[in-house]
Parts: sequence; C-alpha cells; structure tokens
Amino acid sequence: MSSSATSVATESEIRSPQTPGPVLLMGAPGVGKGTQAKELVKYWGVPQVSTGDLLRSNVAQGTALGKAAKEIMQRGQLVPDSLVNDMVEARLKQPDTKRGYILDGFPRTLAQATWLDERLGGVQSALPLVAVSLQVDYNQLLRRITGRRNCPVCQTIYNIYSNPPKRDGFCDVEGAALVQRADDTERVFAARMTAYNAQTAPVVDHYRNLGRFVEVSADGPIAAIAAGIVAAVERLRS
Ligand code: AP5
Ligand code: MG
Repeated sequence: MSSSATSVATESEIRSPQTPGPVLLMGAPGVGKGTQAKELVKYWGVPQVSTGDLLRSNVAQGTALGKAAKEIMQRGQLVPDSLVNDMVEARLKQPDTKRGYILDGFPRTLAQATWLDERLGGVQSALPLVAVSLQVDYNQLLRRITGRRNCPVCQTIYNIYSNPPKRDGFCDVEGAALVQRADDTERVFAARMTAYNAQTAPVVDHYRNLGRFVEVSADGPIAAIAAGIVAAVERLRS
C-alpha cells in the first residue's frame, strides 16, 4: 500500500499482516473491486481471484468455457452458475490460496453464495469469509466504467479521468497500448447494473445477515480506501 494511506493505514501497516483468510469484495460494476483487490494482494500477499478476469482469459484463449461465456458477457448478463463454480473450484484448489484470497466478482448469485458457503464450511481449518461491500453513486460508476482502460499485458487498471497513464494510451509499466473492455459501453453497463440489482444485491444482503460484513465507501483516494478495508477486515477477524 502506498504511503499516502490515512492514519488508519499507518496503524495497520506497522503490524505484520495477518493471515486474511477469504476476503470477499462486492459491489456494482466499476465500483473498484479489481483496483482494491490489487492493493490487498500487495498488503496480504494472497492472490486475487477475479471471476471476470478468469472468464476474460478463457475468452482470449478460446477455451470451451470462453466460447460459452463470450456472448453472455458482451450482453452484460451473468454466466451460468455451474460454469463459474467449476472455474472457481479449480482456482481455489491451487496452493497459493492456502493463507487466503481476495474474491472479486464472486459469488454474485445466491446459488453461487450457497455453493461457496458449503465449500468453506467443509474446510475445517479455514477462517470464515469476511465480506466487504464497496459503494459509490451511479454517476461515479458510469464515469469509472466509460473512463477505464486496461493494460493487456500486466492488467494494470487506469482511468482517463481519475487515474490516467503518464503517456496517453500506453501502460506505465509495460509500455503496451491500453485497451477498453468490450462490455465498458454505456449500453452494456446498463444491462450489467440490471443484473447486479436483480441477482447480486440479494447476495450482499445474504452476507450482511451472516455477519462478518462491512460497508466501505469506495469514493476517495485508492490507498485510503484500501487502508479502510484492511482495518475493517482485521477488526472483524479479531
Ligand atoms: P467483472 O469483470 O467482475 O465486472 P464487474 O463486476 O462489472 O466489475 P468491473 O470489473 O467492471 O469493475 P470493478 O469493480 O472491478 O472496478 P475497477 O477496479 O476496474 O465481470 C464481467 C462479466 O463477467 C460479468 O458481467 C459477467 O458476464 C461475467 N461474470 C464475472 N463474474 C461472474 C460470476 N461470478 N457469475 C456469473 N458471471 C460472471 O475500477 C473501475 C474504474 O474505476 C477503473 O478505471 C479505475 O481506475 C477506477 N477507479 C477505481 N477506484 C477508484 C477511485 N477510488 N477513485 C477514482 N477512480 C477509481
Ligand atoms: Mg473488475
């Protein structure tokens, strides 16, 4: 985490990072799940498990899963639960997830949440999941979505309004030409918001009711938001 974090961060940073266990980042399209996940990966040294990134990688590689998911994603709808759950199962079996992981974009239906809860309940030594719900207003979401650009090589996330690269259109790290996601149009964003409100908002309520849940404003400097998440997760773990 960068040195521009708030005083809460400084307090957290002077302690050695705890084992975070599974941390779930929830929130509407463009709220900053991926951005925050990358900050938490740096802080805790556990992997980000982003179902959106995994699906896009399958699409790019032309796998059977990618072929099944491509058009659904372009419409802004959700990929069937069974396909996504199988993909997550394979990822969580990898040894780098032992100390924990940052779930980004999963679960986003009640059926996925039930599947995950059962899976975690079956792992006796696992820490229970901590859920973080990120929030910004609709206009911010739209600005974040339409202004987003990604590096196709290192996946660094930029925004032409709030977090532009040093050289217009090119990644600071790789020098690669930045790309815009196929689903980052105003029209597909509207469909993604409809899916979020209908299918994912009940998942937020599900984890709110289970406890170990915190709401965090995702409006403000990236490092300060990450510091707030770290402090909240550590508080819920203690
Ligand atoms: P996914 O890739 O998960 O998309 P999403 O949920 O719509 O979220 P985004 O990735 O668009 O936004 P984000 O919250 O990660 O924001 P980011 O950090 O990039 O899913 C895509 C599709 O895959 C779905 O529509 C569906 O089809 C399918 N899918 C995925 N998971 C699935 C599942 N579990 N089940 C079924 N289908 C599934 O930030 C956005 C922008 O804001 C960036 O430009 C960033 O620089 C900027 N920004 C971030 N933080 C700040 C800040 N604090 N201040 C100013 N700007 C900021
Ligand atoms: Mg994302």
